[in-house]
Amino acid sequence: MSPFAPPLDEPAAEAALALLAHGEIHVEGRLVDASNATLYCTVTLDGVTATCVHKPVAGERPLWDFPDGTLAFREVATYAVSAATGWDLVPPTVLRDGPYGPGMTQLWLEADETVDLFALVRSDTVDLRRIAVLDAVVNNGDRKGSHLLPVPSGRVYGIDHGVCFATEDKLRTLLWQWRGEPLTEEALDVLRRLDAALSDELGERLRRLLSRREVAATHDRVRSLLRTGLHPLPSGEWPAIPWPPF
Ligand SMILES: Nc1ncnc2c1ncn2[C@@H]1O[C@H](COP(=O)(O)OP(=O)(O)OP(=O)(O)O)[C@@H](O)[C@H]1O
Ligand SMILES: [Mg+2]
Repeated sequence: MSPFAPPLDEPAAEAALALLAHGEIHVEGRLVDASNATLYCTVTLDGVTATCVHKPVAGERPLWDFPDGTLAFREVATYAVSAATGWDLVPPTVLRDGPYGPGMTQLWLEADETVDLFALVRSDTVDLRRIAVLDAVVNNGDRKGSHLLPVPSGRVYGIDHGVCFATEDKLRTLLWQWRGEPLTEEALDVLRRLDAALSDELGERLRRLLSRREVAATHDRVRSLLRTGLHPLPSGEWPAIPWPPF
């Protein structure tokens, strides 16, 4: 039983981050369909227990297009960007030591199993459109259906952000329904805030998690979205749809 249910306002997110960062982790099992060592755990602090996923860096499968041992950092960096948007799109995520050394720990949010993911990915909802903007900013290389997490409150979260923040355009997603369309006014406002934050605290935070070039490329993507005012189009140089898509 987790004490945290969405939507997670700022105090709830802060409390979850403290619990995730400082609580005692107990591994309950391994998620067998996951390609990396993804552990299903509980985390307990001062008598409060929540469920979480923990992905040890040591369990990351090497990838040809990302430096080894960096996926956990990319997941935490995506959380930082989501938090800076104020949109609450990624469950609270921290870097911490676990039973197999350092890794990322993320609050587990119970999914609404009644939601049809095939219909969800084609829908035009506020959360999904915001996730499309987040993905454009972090350059998400793997927004497949199973990386959308619909929860009982009706909100939709994004998970599994290990392959984000490449310097070249690698946006690979099922959420192309707004391609080439004008960004919403709220998205433009958020992008302006991200532009400022990347010159400030968010930029500093990301430079502790990513390379300087990757942070600079993130800032460039934000500025380019503001310049065009449009949702991005597929680059044509990289598969636009994740495989497998779900
Ligand atoms: N924070 C979370 N809350 C609820 N469920 C989650 C969360 N994180 C992961 N899951 C569940 O665990 C599954 C595997 O997690 P995830 O995709 O992050 O792992 P992975 O090792 O990167 O897997 P793969 O490489 O196969 O995509 C997800 O598809 C989802 O069902
Ligand atoms: Mg996954």
